[in-house]
Amino acid sequence: MLLYIISVAYKINFDESISDMIDRLKQEHIQFKITLNKITKYNDENNIDKAIETIHDMSQPIIKHAVEEEARIMRVIMHNAKEASTDSIKIMQEHNWVVDFLKQKIPTIKGNIDKQQDGQDIQFQKKAHNEINEFVINLRNHFEEEEQIVFPLALKADRDKDKSSA
Ligand SMILES: [Fe+2]
Ligand SMILES: [Fe+2]
Repeated sequence: MLLYIISVAYKINFDESISDMIDRLKQEHIQFKITLNKITKYNDENNIDKAIETIHDMSQPIIKHAVEEEARIMRVIMHNAKEASTDSIKIMQEHNWVVDFLKQKIPTIKGNIDKQQDGQDIQFQKKAHNEINEFVINLRNHFEEEEQIVFPLALKADRDKDKSSA
């Protein structure tokens, strides 16, 4: 998985229990969703600059969050619930487009905005508006899928691990 490669750059706390970690990740989802609401508001007001700036500010925390999910949550699933992991793997792969959007798309949109300072290009504005909108919707879905599918499976896998090692 892509993020595993950059996971060494982040300090992952392997002492935190899986259930504590999942509680924390859910709290982070709540915070991210508040930020996504702001982004939608700016976007709807056609304040693309502010929407982009807000996405940029949340990009490091989101990447760190995703790295933790892959390094710890997926790890416990692959070790103890591999036979039920198909959907969870697909959901984790969504991190690829999240990272791609944050690292490639955002700088591109920003570069285009800076080029046309008065923002006369309505066509371009519309495109940026739609891309931001799509990002917000997809990310909300992603959080939902994790909470419905990935986190419950990880909790179960973690309990099974304790059972088999006891
Ligand atoms: Fe995620
Ligand atoms: Fe998440």
